[in-house]
Amino acid sequence: MRIFGDREMAYLQEVMDSGVLGWAHQRDMQVDRFEREFAAFVGADWGIARNSAMTGLAIAVAVADAGVGDEVLCDSTVHFGAVAAVAMNAIPRFVDIDPRTWLMDPESLRANISEQSKAVIVTNLWGQCAALDEIRAICDEHDLFMIEDCAHSLLSYWDGQHSGTFGDLGVFSFQQGKQLPTGDGGMMVTDDPALYQRLYDEWAFSGESPAYMVLNYRMNEMTAAVGRAQLERVAGYIATYNESLAIMEQAIEGCAWLQPRLRPERARVTSYAWSCLWDGDRYGLDHDRFRQLCAEHGAAVRFGFNQVPPYQFDFFRVSTIYGDPRCPVRCPLAPGSYDYRDGLCPNAEHVLPRLISANSMREPESAREWAEHLRAAIEAMERA
Ligand SMILES: Cc1ncc(COP(=O)(O)O)c(C=O)c1O
Repeated sequence: MRIFGDREMAYLQEVMDSGVLGWAHQRDMQVDRFEREFAAFVGADWGIARNSAMTGLAIAVAVADAGVGDEVLCDSTVHFGAVAAVAMNAIPRFVDIDPRTWLMDPESLRANISEQSKAVIVTNLWGQCAALDEIRAICDEHDLFMIEDCAHSLLSYWDGQHSGTFGDLGVFSFQQGKQLPTGDGGMMVTDDPALYQRLYDEWAFSGESPAYMVLNYRMNEMTAAVGRAQLERVAGYIATYNESLAIMEQAIEGCAWLQPRLRPERARVTSYAWSCLWDGDRYGLDHDRFRQLCAEHGAAVRFGFNQVPPYQFDFFRVSTIYGDPRCPVRCPLAPGSYDYRDGLCPNAEHVLPRLISANSMREPESAREWAEHLRAAIEAMERA
């Protein structure tokens, strides 16, 4: 399905011919072109290429000037934003999700804002945008830096506007499993020229004091060459993946005990993962039995995406795991409770172990086969 062919080779040949394999802070080379082409593709003014989305998120926290004593409001479904906060010694403050979309709930965001709040990292999980205009408005109201984690959301829109362009920064991933693969890589986008310049100018090799924490998370020329060629192909991939997602969504139509993910009218979803919510408890059905039937019928689905929200991970609870036992979760500079207790985000705790998901970046033929297997498992469950 994915094609790595002549176009990739042609751009790679340009790199070899130039003799410059690494990012050289020069215009009109592969990295520079990829940054411009990618930004134009998503409708942003500027792009800054990175070696991964994870490092892009950490840099985003750094340029937001969030550090010791500051809080970064994060999702309670995935841990990436919270890890980026911790990497810059900031404190992740977990926000609950809307139980119908599995995305950040603006009301919970509002309720979690404190004097220490500095930035928000909102994840457009599995190809669907969060309520980005509402989150933008809350950030403006409270002077918070808004970062969008767009690792799954290429060609995903909210109110006709591309993901990543509501935030001060949007961060995309080109890791192997993403819509646009370069092996590894990432791209930050922004419409703010000053912010772009700050990111562009800063690298820890200039013999001058860096203005903020920079660790040379650069993209190299070969990766950018592949990225440019993949960018020309990715709309085609996504059109196919979207067809597959539609087929997969039909598989649970009419099943009362598997709840489809809510797709608000304002969201134009891109295919990344299919998902639904187990609601069988209400019908006296046994979750483990369904898991077993899926295995028996060859329905390749994942039960419980993460079983628990990240604040229940040892990584965040046992602060000695990442160094100083007092910091940052119990940072003495940050008054307030960072006791990541059970029950902190009730919707996330309810939803995560009940999510059922599968990769929807596949060929329609494979999606049809998958849907048949899932339907067979559902029918077996209903007969039992
Ligand atoms: C939601 C989300 N954010 C960030 C990342 C990190 O991306 P990368 O692997 O490019 O660092 C991932 C990777 O799987 C992800 O799923």
